[in-house]
Amino acid sequence: MKIRVGIDAMAVAVPRRYIDIEDLARARGIDPAKYTQGLGAREMAVAEPGEDTVSLAAEAARRALAAAKLGGSELGLLVVGTETGVDHSKPVASYVHGLLDLPRTMRVYDTQHACYGGTAGLMTALEWIASGSAGNRSALVICSDIARYGIATAGEPTQGAGAVAMVIGQNPAMLELDVGISGTSSTHVHDFWRPLGLREAQVDGHYSVQCYLDALADSYRGWKRRAIMRELVRDDGLVSEKLARICYHVPFCKMAKKAHLQVRKCDLEDSHVLWDAAAEDERGALSFREQVEPSLAACSRVGNVYTGSLYLSLAGLLETQAPALTGKRIGLFSYGSGCTSEFFSGVVATRAAERVSAAPIAEVLAGRQRISISEYESIMALTTPLPAPPHPGAFRFTGVVDHRRQYARA
Ligand code: HMG
Repeated sequence: MKIRVGIDAMAVAVPRRYIDIEDLARARGIDPAKYTQGLGAREMAVAEPGEDTVSLAAEAARRALAAAKLGGSELGLLVVGTETGVDHSKPVASYVHGLLDLPRTMRVYDTQHACYGGTAGLMTALEWIASGSAGNRSALVICSDIARYGIATAGEPTQGAGAVAMVIGQNPAMLELDVGISGTSSTHVHDFWRPLGLREAQVDGHYSVQCYLDALADSYRGWKRRAIMRELVRDDGLVSEKLARICYHVPFCKMAKKAHLQVRKCDLEDSHVLWDAAAEDERGALSFREQVEPSLAACSRVGNVYTGSLYLSLAGLLETQAPALTGKRIGLFSYGSGCTSEFFSGVVATRAAERVSAAPIAEVLAGRQRISISEYESIMALTTPLPAPPHPGAFRFTGVVDHRRQYARA
């Protein structure tokens, strides 16, 4: 019998401070329209050292487990996808395991490949459950990162921070994934990387956009071949239009628009039609508004969260449109610089709206505080946690004692 597996609950954690992207543009002497229209940004999360990858991951996970009403004893696997870990050896997952007081009987580890790390964890969890190895146990997959390029760099307006935690299980309440139907693409490129010891990423920005688009074309076509073969979609022209929505990895919101146009271009090329470029521009823009834009609201208010970006876009989409999407198939594209990528899909399940209301993103965003650009610049220079009170009840990094990182819950 086929095991139905997918996302049973999701929750998001973000730092308590953010800046308005227009304030940042003005401070850098740049036309704010470049950041708002050119990149599609509105706000950017700013993490102080007390809000590190571990504390954000633990906070998101605590909320996701509460939304799923799941006890630790029902979990068999904890994977954290991250590219901004806190130790060369001890994984973020190990800290989270301790902070949430989860059972000793679990597998606990991190996965890394730039922004793809969370998807690596998700795929492992899906296959672990679909193979039958999990028994009745669920998995906890967390994507957590702090995206930093540095002050006054081209990447600065595309920074951000946050975590998305997902409970993966059988008969999922939110999204049943099409296990085994995905397309992947990997190439050894230096589009974005972060040498050991550096806090800020190195990036060849325009090249990274091209690497993303090339990987997307391969991955999408791989998914399409399998989806047609397994009769999930019919091969009659614009296959991407058979997907009710597509969530992309969102390093900045305009990237999702470029991605969507790329997917449509693949469809048009594959169907060997001669297309009218002007008419396609208009149709592409319309299809972007319907199929992609609804997933971008939360991303535009947080910025790039690396591993979590695709899942923040999915969580944001389900928060606003779950009832209308029940039973419909959506596409998902994960990209990690370096690079590797995967296009996959899933069908929105009947209890998605109920789960969303148990851990709403709107509430998380509403609890934040806007800060000035000079406050943001001071926070970026900090290496030790601020004494300011965190969100009530939130996990927090408090300092290092004898080379051991210490955490507390406020
Ligand atoms: P830039 O060179 O400063 O910007 O950096 P630009 O000159 O390319 O302009 C950006 C857009 O704004 C352009 O639109 C301009 O036309 C427009 P486009 O042509 O792209 O459609 N523009 C304006 N619009 C309105 N009014 C104006 C105006 N001026 C210009 N006045 C860049 C942009 C994205 C390169 C930079 O921010 C960057 O390096 N970001 C970091 C890298 C990145 O995000 N790459 C994305 C793909 S790689 C990826 O997704 C993986 C990643 O998440 C990491 C991981 O995997 O771990 C990054």
